[in-house]
Parts: sequence; structure tokens; C-alpha cells
Amino acid sequence: MWLHGGSKEDIRKNIAQGINNQMPGFGERLTRNQIMSLTTYIMSLQPDTETLIASNDDDSYLLSRNELPLPSSVSVCTSCHGKDGNSVIPGAPNLAGLKFEYIYNQIHLFDNGNRDNATMKGMVTHLSDQDRVLVAKYYASLNPPEPDNHRPEVPENGVITDPTERMVYQGDWKRAIPACTTCHGERLEGSASFPRLAGQSSVYLVEQFNNWRSGARKGDQGEMMYNVAKKLSSKEIEDLSKYLSELK
Ligand code: HEC
Ligand code: HEC
Repeated sequence: MWLHGGSKEDIRKNIAQGINNQMPGFGERLTRNQIMSLTTYIMSLQPDTETLIASNDDDSYLLSRNELPLPSSVSVCTSCHGKDGNSVIPGAPNLAGLKFEYIYNQIHLFDNGNRDNATMKGMVTHLSDQDRVLVAKYYASLNPPEPDNHRPEVPENGVITDPTERMVYQGDWKRAIPACTTCHGERLEGSASFPRLAGQSSVYLVEQFNNWRSGARKGDQGEMMYNVAKKLSSKEIEDLSKYLSELK
């Protein structure tokens, strides 16, 4: 391809002056404007990473992902969330393991202030909808392995002995707290509406409970997590967060 794939200046020069005696130069026959509009047209034929990924709705784009440079809308996120979706700073969550719908929705909640976080608001406010889809698809594609099943044996009396494990797998019916696994999955692996908890940063998890309790995090339907968070003690929150962060 002589014209395709070059810089704008190269393409313009090739049209005007020709290429290595093989393609004649059209500099004398075309006006400057005609050369410029041809150049622009040829530039528009070049594949660009962002359109390629965004336009590809099936899973095949995931396979080719490593062969494409990260689009700039994603690369800004990697300084905190990592290229592989594993957080590189304390307080930032791992995004690998979260589903597309969940990530996309959280971006919206940061933008409209339901999740009150200045850092993340600054990160997402200027993203176009296409870029939101793109970053959410990118991070959702980094599927870490399904977590192992950690459900402990249930003793004869039917009640799991360890209080943290009991809360996770059985809940606390006296306080009307359902088991975390009811919504977040048997292995805390998450789904489209419920985030994965297994292996999430414990600093981040504690922070989220504090955010529900202070009202800084809202926006889930029926305030499901506020209703859980307000009933837990600070000690329970610490223990749960530690337990969940250590799940493999
Ligand atoms: C400077 C560091 C930083 C950068 C850069 C950054 N984030 Fe974040 N991100 C955070 C922090 C801190 C939180 C936790 C906010 C909170 O506690 O509510 C977060 C939370 C999130 C969450 C919520 C995840 C969950 O489990 O609910 C998503 C989604 C997210 N970021 C996406 C992005 C995207 C997409 C980009 C790039 C456009 C980005 N972030 C760039 C620091 C960052
Ligand atoms: C009735 C369903 C339900 C139950 C039970 C439940 N959760 Fe949640 N949880 C949710 C929903 C929905 C969200 C997402 C909220 C949103 O979209 O902002 C969530 C989000 C979270 C998050 C935020 C994770 C992140 O990536 O930001 C944490 C932490 C969490 N839940 C912990 C727990 C723990 C621990 C338990 C058990 C004590 C529990 N949840 C029980 C529905 C539930």
C-alpha cells in the first residue's frame, strides 16, 4: 500500500510528487485543495484502534486486544487501575473481574455525583459515551479466574461457627441481613449488577462501607448496600473486608 498507512504529510507528498517512479506525481494536474481533500480521504481509511475495538461487539476483539496499542481513553486509567486491571495504588479497586454493565453504570454514578469521589469524577466527566463503552469493555475483558469455593462445612446445628464466614455465607436473620453470597454469588464472583468481591482491595472495601454510611455512595436500586452497611459494626466491616480481599 503506497498511500495507506502513512502520516498525513507523507500521503500529501506522495500524491503531489509520486512514489519512486512507480506512481506518477499529480502535483501539476491537481489543485492544492484537491490534493488536501484526497489526503484527508485517504487518512479516513486508516484503521484506528478505538473504532476497531468499539465497533467490535463480539468477543473476538478480546483476542486481538494484545496486538493493538491501548487507546488513550484507557491508558489514563492504568496509572491507578493497572493495565491488567489490578490496582496499583491503595484505595483504588481492582477492575479485573467486574462485568461490563457494572463498570459502565459506576462511571455514570461517578459522573452524576451519586458516588461522590473527586478523583473519579475528574476521570470520567469528559469521557464520551463511546469511550465509556470502550473502557468498560476493556476492563471487563480482563477476566481473572473464577474464585475457588470457600464455603465452610456447616456444623450439625446448621450455623457456621466463624462470625465472618457466617455473615458471608448465611447472613444474620436476626438483623435481617441476607448472606453476601445471595447477591454477590456463591464464590463472591459477581455478575452484571453485583460486583465481584473476591480478591478486592481491603482498603477499598472498608472505604465503600464508610461511603454508604456517610451517604457518599448512593445509586444502587432499593439502596441494597446501604441497608446492609448501616447494620454492620466497624469491626464486622474490617473483618469482612479482610476476609473478602484474601479470597483466591
Ligand atoms: C488517580 C487514580 C485513578 C485514576 C487515574 C482512575 N481511577 Fe478509577 N478509581 C480510583 C479510586 C481511588 C476509586 C475508588 C473511588 C471510591 O472510593 O469511590 C476508583 C474507582 C473506580 C471504579 C469503581 C469500581 C468499583 O468496584 O465499583 C471504576 C469503575 C473506575 N474507577 C474506573 C476508572 C476508569 C474507567 C478510569 C479511566 C478513565 C479511572 N477509573 C481512572 C482512582 C483512579
Ligand atoms: C440484596 C443484595 C445484596 C446483598 C445481600 C449484599 N450486597 Fe453488596 N452489593 C449489592 C449491590 C447491588 C451492589 C452494587 C451497588 C452499586 O451499584 O452501587 C453491591 C456492592 C457491594 C460492594 C462494593 C464493591 C465495589 O466494587 O465497589 C461491597 C464491598 C459489597 N457490596 C459488600 C457486601 C457484603 C460484605 C455483603 C454481605 C454482608 C453484601 N455486600 C451483601 C447487593 C447486595
